[in-house]
Amino acid sequence: MNSFKNKGEFLQPIISVKELNKTYNNNFIALENIELDIYKGEIFALLGPNGAGKTSLINIICGIVNPSSGTIHANGYDIVSDYLKARSEIGLVPQELATDTFETVLASVNFSRGLFGKRPNPELVEKILKQLSLWKKRHSRIMTLSGGMKRRVMIAKALSHEPTILFLDEPTAGVDVDLRKGMWEMVRELRENGVTIILTTHYIEEAEDMADRIGVINKGKIILVDDKNTLMQKLGKKQLKLHLQSSLSELPAGLEEFNLELTNDGIELIYTFDSQSKDTGIVILLRKLNEHGVYFKDLQSSESSLEDIFVNLVRNQS
Ligand SMILES: Nc1ncnc2c1ncn2[C@@H]1O[C@H](COP(=O)(O)OP(=O)(O)O)[C@@H](O)[C@H]1O
Ligand SMILES: [Mg+2]
Repeated sequence: MNSFKNKGEFLQPIISVKELNKTYNNNFIALENIELDIYKGEIFALLGPNGAGKTSLINIICGIVNPSSGTIHANGYDIVSDYLKARSEIGLVPQELATDTFETVLASVNFSRGLFGKRPNPELVEKILKQLSLWKKRHSRIMTLSGGMKRRVMIAKALSHEPTILFLDEPTAGVDVDLRKGMWEMVRELRENGVTIILTTHYIEEAEDMADRIGVINKGKIILVDDKNTLMQKLGKKQLKLHLQSSLSELPAGLEEFNLELTNDGIELIYTFDSQSKDTGIVILLRKLNEHGVYFKDLQSSESSLEDIFVNLVRNQS
């Protein structure tokens, strides 16, 4: 269960992005006026279509890409003027894997830790590798591993210096279902230990499952940030599905106002309504169907998924 509650007014953000803009050298505006606070201990999912600016935003926060303007603080440190301190708070699992390496898993993870000026800690590294089911592969060269394992090596490297903030940019791309589950378990465990997690994923069900809060970015602008549950309630639509007694080739006249959808070779009727409105219209619909001689055997209701909400948001903005 999500234990995080949005107490934005009381909590100090652990990441604070203010008036951030990014224009690449070719004059492409990748990010426009980004304002974003991430709170300690939350799992924040950044959703957006390909090219929306997710990776640009993450790479700027992590100091890999320069911002054009704006300020960013990580745990209080300015990422430009106090780069080393800010960066040592952060672990990054980048979208693009650098994996053509002859190094072994263990050497690579130890090396990453050393880069941050931390003393060797074999127990910690062992624990991380075991959590990621990589311990048995610790002496393998990274280039010999499968895609999913390489991804997990990147996670181990990102965790090696004990960051308080972890960025996961498309962490489950190319990782099979079983391993994804294991990865998410680990992410939850990290969160239990106080690590703040920011992730992007295009498996929206994963965000729905994992995130406390969700931000939607499209064409370089953040179009919405909300508590996941609030978002699902606010924007969620409900559907009523009626299984008809006999199939219809078309809807009888006089039911246009309900915007019904006839599916499954005319044997199913779908009515979509706003779950927030006081009057769902269901009672009238059922009466009218009866008047028109449309009878049903069975009915089911369902709520829209985060995926539906997301697709609508992005569609409406373009
Ligand atoms: N170095 C770059 N130079 C020019 N344009 C870039 C560069 N990096 C990314 N972009 C463009 O910026 C936009 C956002 O890219 P990106 O941040 O990778 O989006 P996302 O991660 O949401 O898919 C894309 O249109 C991409 O082509
Ligand atoms: Mg990306």
